[in-house]
Amino acid sequence: MSQRVARTTLTALALACIATLGHAQQAKLKVGLMLPYSGTYAALGVAIENGFKLRLDEQGGKLGGREIEFVKVDDESDPAKATDNVNKLIKRDNVDVIVGTVHSGVTIAMAKAAKESGTVLIVPNGGADAVTGPMCAQNIFRSSFSNWQPAYAMGEVAGKQGKKKAITITWKYAAGDESVAGFKEGFEKAGGKVDKQLAVPFPNVEFQALLTEIAAAKPDVVYAFFAGGGAVKFVKDYAAAGLNKTIPLVGPGFLTDGTLEAQGESAQGMLTTLHYADGLDTPRDTSFRTAYAKTFKLQPDVYAVQGYDAAQMLAIGLNAVKGDISKKAEFASAIEHAKIDSPRGQFTISKAHNPVQDIYLRKVAGNENKVVSVAVKNLADPARGCKL
Ligand code: PHB
Repeated sequence: MSQRVARTTLTALALACIATLGHAQQAKLKVGLMLPYSGTYAALGVAIENGFKLRLDEQGGKLGGREIEFVKVDDESDPAKATDNVNKLIKRDNVDVIVGTVHSGVTIAMAKAAKESGTVLIVPNGGADAVTGPMCAQNIFRSSFSNWQPAYAMGEVAGKQGKKKAITITWKYAAGDESVAGFKEGFEKAGGKVDKQLAVPFPNVEFQALLTEIAAAKPDVVYAFFAGGGAVKFVKDYAAAGLNKTIPLVGPGFLTDGTLEAQGESAQGMLTTLHYADGLDTPRDTSFRTAYAKTFKLQPDVYAVQGYDAAQMLAIGLNAVKGDISKKAEFASAIEHAKIDSPRGQFTISKAHNPVQDIYLRKVAGNENKVVSVAVKNLADPARGCKL
């Protein structure tokens, strides 16, 4: 090859490279947001989206150098529609990443589809233990919690307080069942006994008959899993029946997070456990809260934090692969080795891709879930059944 031909070939190659790079920088990353925008969990879906978008704004509208295009689906917290909804995002809209969702049953269907297609999934709430248990996968991550985590901590706290006899009450579906199981494990290890497990179908809010049963049984403590609109109704009904005067009502922090304005007097003094709290008073949390309140004219809650951290985790993965999300192993490895600088406090991601995090004990005072102490430091989900 003459020098001139070689030079021309090199120039052509260089131009092609620049063109490709330029193209890669311009192509938007398609993010499928599959969240509840209607029903009892609607406010949770909105908070997650707000948190995600706040982090994106802070990064100048780009993650890993790529602009973001959103495709939104209202999953209605309906597991019967979940497979169709997620497959539309994967197969019709060809999204690069899915962020979702709140309801454990819908989350399980999403994890199944993500596992089959290899699409990256970041779960910003749905606590289904199986997602980072038997269903764990290289391309599935959670920025929130497993149902076991806050529940186990509350069991331990109640047991150590010397409570002996508990009744649990929940919606009858994966999240409620697993939350009750986590509480029971912690409580019985600490010397208590769960006497009775009550449930209503999701998302029913007819609690009267079960409250009568609780009043008659007179346990030392009641543990409840409800969230969103259902949590508002349950906490108010519990107080209206006069039960809050005699039998402490406790739960994972979902029972009082993002709901206090509506619960008012009925929630005062309640103890809950969660990976977030009001009054953390760290520079990181304060700047997040100020920015969130300014942008959305709303106070942030745990769901906003989980959405914010989903964007942080996505950015960490994308930065490591320079925006090329097809590099699955490097993408995953970057997140696995990261310390995520969350408003909740720093956390890491376990091998099963679930947060390893402090669980706070909080007490309701006014409109705040005020931090009391760290109930369990660096709590990792046991990841039972995960083979990664
Ligand atoms: C769940 O279904 O996993 C779930 C829903 C709402 C919460 C927490 C967990 O606040």
